[in-house]
Amino acid sequence: MRLISLNSLEAGKTLGRPIYNEKGALLLRAGATVSTRYIRHLKEMGYTSVYVQEKGYEDIEVKDVISEKTRMEAVATISETFDAVRASDTRSDKVALDRQKISGVANKIVDDLVGAGDQIMDLVDLKSFDNYTFLHSVNVSVLTMLTAVNTGEFTTLELRDMAIAALLHDIGMAHIPIEIVQKKGKLNPEEFARMKKHTKIGYEILLHKSSMKPQIANVALQHHECFNGTGYPNGLTDEKIHIWSRYTTLADVYDPLTSDRSYKRRLPPLVALEYLELGRGTLFDPDCMDDFISHIAHYPAASTVVLNTGEISVVVANNTRQLDRPLVRVLTTPDGKDLDKPFEIDLAKQSEYSIKSVQD
Ligand SMILES: [Fe+2]
Repeated sequence: MRLISLNSLEAGKTLGRPIYNEKGALLLRAGATVSTRYIRHLKEMGYTSVYVQEKGYEDIEVKDVISEKTRMEAVATISETFDAVRASDTRSDKVALDRQKISGVANKIVDDLVGAGDQIMDLVDLKSFDNYTFLHSVNVSVLTMLTAVNTGEFTTLELRDMAIAALLHDIGMAHIPIEIVQKKGKLNPEEFARMKKHTKIGYEILLHKSSMKPQIANVALQHHECFNGTGYPNGLTDEKIHIWSRYTTLADVYDPLTSDRSYKRRLPPLVALEYLELGRGTLFDPDCMDDFISHIAHYPAASTVVLNTGEISVVVANNTRQLDRPLVRVLTTPDGKDLDKPFEIDLAKQSEYSIKSVQD
């Protein structure tokens, strides 16, 4: 498989991973032949890249950390949960959330992760304008739990509740006017003040209107708090911010950076991680940050990189212990001519080579 920019995607190529809508339903299956119309449609939807299957790249696997089925079931459940909240009267003191269904998918996320052992996120979670909100909620939960599961510091019950908390961290957004949530430009001060209320609204919905546990509701309340007290709504500092929130915040900031948004193109994972580093100890708990970043591939499999020698290569597989030095397949000469016989270099073993940049 290969991750390529839609601008260089030609009709006739085969899609490598399926594309889903905002309800978790299949729009384009993996293996579908991409037509000019599809490419135009994908661009209109806001995608800038897709995974394709191509001759010479068949052996490059892009593996998610949870099953496709679990991820899509989670998207569908979050979509339904947002619908239920939107349909409820804000003055009503109850919201009918399907708690059984929500804990069912949270358990599956945790079980998939626990069953697979220590993994890294080696996939770029591509999203469009339409499916962003729910795919984002699910990816925040997946990234948070990928980190938390592997700390070994939480019981299974805690992990399951933490997964629910991360899935529903933005549930308060369901009661924020859609023109604010989907605004393409910067929010004005009034709109920003309104948007910030999603934390308290989410807390109310989870704790008082649907009787979720306080620690689950706390993540909805605290996921915009910053380690140095500059966050909202309560300006909490360090350990006063619940540990589940300190992990969720990292995933919540990282995921949009690596997603295409209406106002900016997605960043490669390494650039997004460098951005997170700027907030070490100020925005983020440094210990949680170490746990988080050790589970993110700097150069996900199937992405194209340029070596220090100028040769263009594709990432074949990551070395989980040396995330900056994957196994790559060299495709061109240093001056950019295609090689007849691509060859592989394990950067973990050949220190004279390094990655200079990512090519999208
Ligand atoms: Fe939020």
